[in-house]
Amino acid sequence: MTNIAIYPGSFDPITNGHLDIIRRASKLCDKLIVAVLVNSSKKNLFTFDERIHMIEDAISDLDNVCVKTFSGLLVDYCTQNNVSAIIRGLRAVSDFEYELQMAQMNRKLEDNVETIFLTASTKYSFLSSSIVKEIARYKGNIEELVPKKACEYLVEKF
Ligand code: COA
Repeated sequence: MTNIAIYPGSFDPITNGHLDIIRRASKLCDKLIVAVLVNSSKKNLFTFDERIHMIEDAISDLDNVCVKTFSGLLVDYCTQNNVSAIIRGLRAVSDFEYELQMAQMNRKLEDNVETIFLTASTKYSFLSSSIVKEIARYKGNIEELVPKKACEYLVEKF
């Protein structure tokens, strides 16, 4: 049986912290879907196409990773696409409460899908998409914070 995992999120934009989780998660499964949420209540800076393009460029060397969009409940997408594991990153204790609640609710909705937490590498534990956008807005150096294509998009946007 093929083990398919999913790494869902807004990715507005993808950061090196996300990429670190993607690379490590890709070694744990046969196929990893990076899933960009379509119906987010968040006000995003980048369009879906832009976000997908940035992710695709960053993962181009990873053969078993692909990018998709999804809307509706994550567990429904998992069931429809034979996904058995949801990957989430934990950067700090402050992430834990929200992530635990989501994992437990997803488990209640669909107990065939497990959530697997990967702890963020220390060098990325302070990163978030919002903080990167803020630095880019004020022309700070973001080269070490995001993949190359995301850096180009951010510089262009601001
Ligand atoms: N490195 C860098 N940043 C990280 C990170 C990491 N390893 N892990 C999380 N983050 C940041 C993101 O950059 C983002 O920052 P921002 O708020 O500044 O944009 C923040 O943490 C959280 O974003 P994300 O991981 O994209 O999650 P989310 O809260 O936007 O979305 C979903 C989470 C998509 C998994 C969830 O909303 C979902 O499943 N929605 C579908 C509907 C559903 O099923 N709901 C029921 C859930 S129980």
